[in-house]
This record gives sequence, C-alpha cells and structure tokens, in this order.
Amino acid sequence: MTAQLALPGLSPTERRDDSTTFTPNQRLAVHRWFRYSAGFSGAWAADVVAEALPRGGVVFDPFAGVATTLIAAQSQGCDAVGVEAHPLVTRIARAKLDWSTPPAAFSTLAEAVHQAAATLPTTPLDAYPELVRRIFEDDALAELDRLKRAIDAHADPDTPAGRLCWLALLAILRSCSGAGTAPWQYVLPDRRKAQVASPLPSFAAQCRLMAEDMASLQRQAPAPGAARLLQADARTLEGVADASVDLVLTSPPYPNNYDYADATRVELSFLGEVERWADLHDAVRQHLLRSCSQHTRKERLEVEALLDDPLLGPIRPALDDVCARLSALRAERKGHKAYDTMIAAYFADLARVWQALGRVCRPGARACFVIGDSAPYGVYVPVDLWLGVLAEATGFAVEGFEQTRARNIKWKNRKHRVPLKEGHLRVRRV
Ligand SMILES: C[S@@+](CC[C@H](N)C(=O)[O-])C[C@H]1O[C@@H](n2cnc3c(N)ncnc32)[C@H](O)[C@@H]1O
Repeated sequence: MTAQLALPGLSPTERRDDSTTFTPNQRLAVHRWFRYSAGFSGAWAADVVAEALPRGGVVFDPFAGVATTLIAAQSQGCDAVGVEAHPLVTRIARAKLDWSTPPAAFSTLAEAVHQAAATLPTTPLDAYPELVRRIFEDDALAELDRLKRAIDAHADPDTPAGRLCWLALLAILRSCSGAGTAPWQYVLPDRRKAQVASPLPSFAAQCRLMAEDMASLQRQAPAPGAARLLQADARTLEGVADASVDLVLTSPPYPNNYDYADATRVELSFLGEVERWADLHDAVRQHLLRSCSQHTRKERLEVEALLDDPLLGPIRPALDDVCARLSALRAERKGHKAYDTMIAAYFADLARVWQALGRVCRPGARACFVIGDSAPYGVYVPVDLWLGVLAEATGFAVEGFEQTRARNIKWKNRKHRVPLKEGHLRVRRV
C-alpha cells in the first residue's frame, strides 16, 4: 500500500523535514479545513501507517488533536481510534471525520444556511464577550452572528452536514478578524492585520473548498477504514479496549508552557463557552495534560508531593535536580512561573499515558511519538531521554529517537540560548 494523499510540489526530503509541523497540511484535502498549529503532517502520518501496517490494522492516537492521524490511517484503509480531551478540538476533529459522507448533502445545507444568514435581521451584539467585540468590526460580527443563528436554526449538529457547516463557520473566524495573531494561535487584539475577509463570502468559499476536498479524498481513498474518536483522557484511555491497538502514532503536548486552552480562546468566546480568560481553566485546561505553568499554578500544586509519585522513580534523581533548579529560579523571580511543578506534573502525566498505552497495545505493537524538548528559564529538560526511560518502565522497548528539526536556533526573542530539538521517539510493546 502506498500513501494516497497527493502532496504537490514537495520532495521526499522536504516532506521529512516538516513532518512535525502543520504547514504541509495547508495544501492537503480535508487536513487543511482548520488550521491547528499544534498538528503534524498528514502526508507523513500516512507514510508511517503505510510502512508499519501494509496489511491493515488498528491505528491509535491518544492525543488526536484535529484527527490528522485518524484521517491518514483511514486513507490507508486502516481502522483508527483517537482520544482527545479538549472539548472544542474534539468537536472540530469529529466534523473533519465526516469527510467520507456525500458532499452534495453538505453543499445543499450550506447554501440554505448562507441564504438564511443573508436575510436574517441583525440583533444586538452586546451579549458577546468583550474579546469578541474587540477583535471583530461590528459589521463583521453582525454577519458572523447571523451565520451562527442560521446554523443553529437549520444545521442539526447530530448530522454530518450540520457538523460540517458548523466547522466551516469556525474555520473562517480568524480570517474575518482584524486582530493580529502571536506565534501559534494566541490573539493580539491591539495589533491589526492589513487584510480582513468578509464573513458571508468566506463562508461560501470555505464550504465550496470543503465539498471539493470531500469529493477529492473520496476518489483517492475509495475504501477508507472506520474511525472512532472519544472525548477522553490519554492518562486512563477509558473506552479503549485492552490489547486492541497495532500502531500508536501521536504527539503529546510538549512541556513548553503552550496553553491549549488559551490558543482556542477566540473560538470558545465566539461560541459563548467562555466569557473571560479566567473561565478557560474550568472549561478546558483542567481536562488536559499539565504542560503549562498556568495549569499547575491554578491547581496550587507542590513540587515535593508531585515528585513523590512512585511512577516517577525511574527518572529520579535527575528530575529532582531539574525541579530544584526551577524552584530556585522561581523563588528568585518572585514566584512568577511555576515551571518546577509543571515539569514534575508533566512527567507524572506521561508516565500514566505509557501505563495506559501498555494496556491497550497488542504485544509487538509499535508506537511513534512526535516530541520536543524544552528549557524553561534556560534549564534543559531531556524529554526524549526521560520519555524513553518511562516507556521502558511500563513494558515498552525503545527503538530509537530520530531528530527531525532543530528548534530555538535563531535566538530571536528568546529568553535563553539552549539548543532544542524535535523528532520521533519510536518504541515497541514487548
Ligand atoms: C500536539 S497536539 C496533537 C495534534 C495532532 N497530532 C494533530 O495533528 O492535530 C496535542 C493534543 O493533545 C490534547 N491533549 C492534552 N491533554 C490531553 C489528555 N490528557 N488526553 C487527551 N488529549 C489531550 C491537546 O488538546 C492537543 O490537541
């Protein structure tokens, strides 16, 4: 079996180099529907699946994100199971997994929604959270609001066409806002963009692109595997059967203080799921791996209690040393960033993920983790090494780590000069 996803203009070398980034997905049918900067390459994922499971099997992603692995596995004729804990990201992924339904039903509904939105009266916008009112011009917000009300009225979220319409609206939000965006997906209301799209034409164009992509991928992958996505926690993998997985292909959050809840604040605020920044913890962050300092600070975690976790035994005392240095720097900087508890909690969480994966993997199953290391306050954290040690402690054998990218080499806007890397950690269930 060969990878069936067309990737025009990329040589195999280039493809390998950006395998850990979302960038190549911007040219790939279906994968390009929602720009999720935390995602990895769908073409690379399809290649990994084709190589590891030439005769089919079950592919699993415990950090499924926007379903990149699941769609890549389906396109290779494999069945796929995913787990994702972020409620909004799960909803986006579920809509993308509707790619294999007939495009005509979606296009008909999308036209009806567009027509209804064009004729609905404008209603007051003051119920929208302050962030939403700041980042959209009134006219644009009024049109987006009409689209939202038209979707509520006409697009049943229990149908594929209804979910796809919802995704089309979500996907155009950022391009209809004049607010700038910081690296990844944080929004900067005070920095303005030169080009701002109009909601109604953007919605129509997005729906056309999605319908074309559905038809295109359906032609390329006429016998896709089945896909199932659970909103659940990778640390327990509740709902995933014992010894049911042949290949794990995934990328957990990195311990680099990226806040997955804040990254979706624009979308969550527009949908009315959060009002203020402080709401993000209860709405989203509490469900996620503890990979950012806001998380552990909010939960008032203590580093000593975290380090006492017996699952962390295999990486102590090296972990104790890193955490002690981070605690000292935190005290020096008057308690600003809780990197000490973030690092301890992160590895305790990942130890649980390996344990749960040990349960769901068949003997001999392979796992490929896309991971990156970090250096909070300039203190180096050897993520590839420690994740490998924790994997070995829970019944996996490490096959190797392959670096794909050097990070933090340009030093611009960086607070430290520690060279960092990203790559694939490969292990096998013994
Ligand atoms: C690096 S991203 C993976 C992106 C994915 N490879 C893609 O291409 O879309 C990590 C994902 O893990 C999710 N996540 C964080 N904590 C989780 C947990 N405890 N259980 C399951 N998913 C979690 C985040 O919401 C995020 O979508």
